[in-house]
Amino acid sequence: MATMPDPPLAAPLGRDRLDAAPRRIEGRDKITGRLRYAGDISAATLGIAERALLHAVAIVSTQANGRVLGFDADEALAAPGVKLLMTHENAPRLGKVVALNGAEIGELRPLQDDVLHYGGQCVAVLVADTLQHALEASVLVRVRYSEATEDTAFRLADGRGRAVDAKSLGSGTPGKVETGDADAAYAQAPYKVDVTLTTSAHHHNAMEPGAAVAMWNGEDGLTVYSPTQFSYNEAVILGEAFGFSLKERLPRMIAQVIAKYQFSNKVRVVAPPAGGAFGGKNCNIHLLLVAMAAKLAGAPVKLVLSRAQTYTLMPHRGETHQRIRLAADADGQLQSFLREAVVAQGAKGSFAEPVNEVGPKSYACPNLRLHTQTARLDTSASGWMRGPGAGPDAVGLEIAMDMLAHEAGIDPLDFRLRNHADVEPDTGHEWSSKSLKACYQAAAERIGWFDRDPAVGSMREGRHLVGFGMTTSMYPVLQMPALARCVVRADGLATLQTAQHEIGQGMITSLTQLGAEALGLPVDQVTLEYGDSALPYGGMTVGSMTTLTNGAAIHEAATLVKKALLKRAVRDQGSPLHGLHRHDLDVVDGVIVSPDGPRETVAALMSRHPEGLIEEEAVTGRTMGRSSYGRFAFGAQFAKVLIDPETGHLQVAKLIGAFAGGRAVNPLLVRSQLMGGMVWGLGQALLEETVIDPRSGMWMNRSLGEALVPAHADIAELDALIIEEDDTRAHPLGIKGMGEIGSIGGPAAISNAIFHATGVRLTELPFRIDRLL
Ligand code: MOS
Repeated sequence: MATMPDPPLAAPLGRDRLDAAPRRIEGRDKITGRLRYAGDISAATLGIAERALLHAVAIVSTQANGRVLGFDADEALAAPGVKLLMTHENAPRLGKVVALNGAEIGELRPLQDDVLHYGGQCVAVLVADTLQHALEASVLVRVRYSEATEDTAFRLADGRGRAVDAKSLGSGTPGKVETGDADAAYAQAPYKVDVTLTTSAHHHNAMEPGAAVAMWNGEDGLTVYSPTQFSYNEAVILGEAFGFSLKERLPRMIAQVIAKYQFSNKVRVVAPPAGGAFGGKNCNIHLLLVAMAAKLAGAPVKLVLSRAQTYTLMPHRGETHQRIRLAADADGQLQSFLREAVVAQGAKGSFAEPVNEVGPKSYACPNLRLHTQTARLDTSASGWMRGPGAGPDAVGLEIAMDMLAHEAGIDPLDFRLRNHADVEPDTGHEWSSKSLKACYQAAAERIGWFDRDPAVGSMREGRHLVGFGMTTSMYPVLQMPALARCVVRADGLATLQTAQHEIGQGMITSLTQLGAEALGLPVDQVTLEYGDSALPYGGMTVGSMTTLTNGAAIHEAATLVKKALLKRAVRDQGSPLHGLHRHDLDVVDGVIVSPDGPRETVAALMSRHPEGLIEEEAVTGRTMGRSSYGRFAFGAQFAKVLIDPETGHLQVAKLIGAFAGGRAVNPLLVRSQLMGGMVWGLGQALLEETVIDPRSGMWMNRSLGEALVPAHADIAELDALIIEEDDTRAHPLGIKGMGEIGSIGGPAAISNAIFHATGVRLTELPFRIDRLL
């Protein structure tokens, strides 16, 4: 069995670093209910008369195809407080939308015709003076449909015949990757596995459902309050749909924004903090519905989706089906990796899970053929969901790796160490940093991997079968262009500005920290303004990239402000620092200090210049983060399961992860993200699955009561260890990103542990008891 170096390769971050981290800035407001979300917006918030804000309720189809023949709405329209019923017959006509990133509304603009594409599609919106009136009347609307046809496929099992080659998926992953001769290498290898795995459909189920408020300023402007991960994109989509002239076409938008191009100051999207998003809050159908309803009503309108409606008017993670063949030589060196994957798409929308994005980077393997196909099902749209691509990718590859290790008679950790990719396999580039071995070691030691009996079915604790399993976790380092502004005012306080969005991950705190660090001010003297398309372009909150993407721009803008401050100090005759060299000065904890002793607070300096704020802007990531290094965050997860052989009851007794994703700007928040991701991985392994009714095409378990997630009793011991790297080759700030990696690999570690305990190999998510017995 593998032995690991002693002393260990790296020590995980200690309690002291966690204790010293600033607490989440909006945390108190969040838990005391003072934080306001889009659904909390009232007439008073908007500064309008009490009854001036109307309330909309969406009405969705109860069948998956056919046509809407008409509406019996007399009773509803006569009900108290009802203002209007918006259907395809009277809805505002929308212009063509060129959505970024596969949002469904690029292909399906709501209420433009009578055609049904999926169950739960919006067919009407009822608007009334109060939410109660709108709800009451909405159930009185009778929708008449044509007969539904039965030529449908709602599950991949029925729809794989529709599979077509994908040119590119998700973030631009090619549909086919081929190196060497994978078939020949597979045929010749002494050790091989051939396994088929499936992952199930998942819905995001953020606590806050889809919600938005739209307010028109006559024909002349539109403001929408929407919890989104990309306010600029929503503003552009609204501009396109409602015919606000945009000077330039969308695909060049980012470049133009970087050149300070104002795409349209007539459309503004304000993004209050999102109550969870997970990839699901990007430019959804209700964004258009609420603005259409407000236009038709001639009044501001609020639309909050019901939980069930979020299942179809917002996206989900589509099913995947993967056949993997993996082969190794007599020394346990990987020789061949073949994967044929089919990923589900909904009836509309261009997103498809990039299930082969990370695979080619995972291990040193000379022969690869990875092929992804997409299959359109008659369901609502699939879309981004936390750990897109990389999650299902790891489920497949890491279970197959465990199978091959057993086939070759090699310890699963040892097997991974033998196949460790010392350079980025597909490019030959050096890694910017890769502390994967340290992650393996830290998590393995913590869980007791080296003390286990590796023989399958050999371990017992009392009546329980015991098993250990492990996995590698990987997620790419991404950086996009971003703008930021930093202002120091006469009172010495600083403001940072970015359009970027807080979706619960802690961006407000980490970006404030990075700005404060660059300025030399304490965190409590710095305020972040965020989440508004009127602020400097911030990109999307996706892909574990927010701290790097926006932190870089904020750090740069704040650094420019600090330079200007020091310049002002040495030129100001009233300052004790007058005449010194600004390069000798620094700002520490709000005080400008010089090596020889003179010092002055930033506030004192600024107070003598009431006329002059200091304001700077910065643009970073112009290269879209291209690098001559392979840049990934790495991690390892180890699971220990206990299984009752009589009942099949399974307890994940321990789930221990260790992750290395560059510098941890706020280790406390990073650890929370990682642990949250691990809990999600555990949920994916054992519980999570959205099931569709093949008779109606409706998602069956479309409520929080039936969205099974782990409770405390399902999680015994769970911990995320952080192996910190100062990866200045990835980025000068040393940051890589650790938002999503915690959710990647956990299901494979649990499947592998179940095999060690029982000899049963589970390959179909979720690993329910009936699949174990
Ligand atoms: Mo995330 S799925 O990259 O919002």
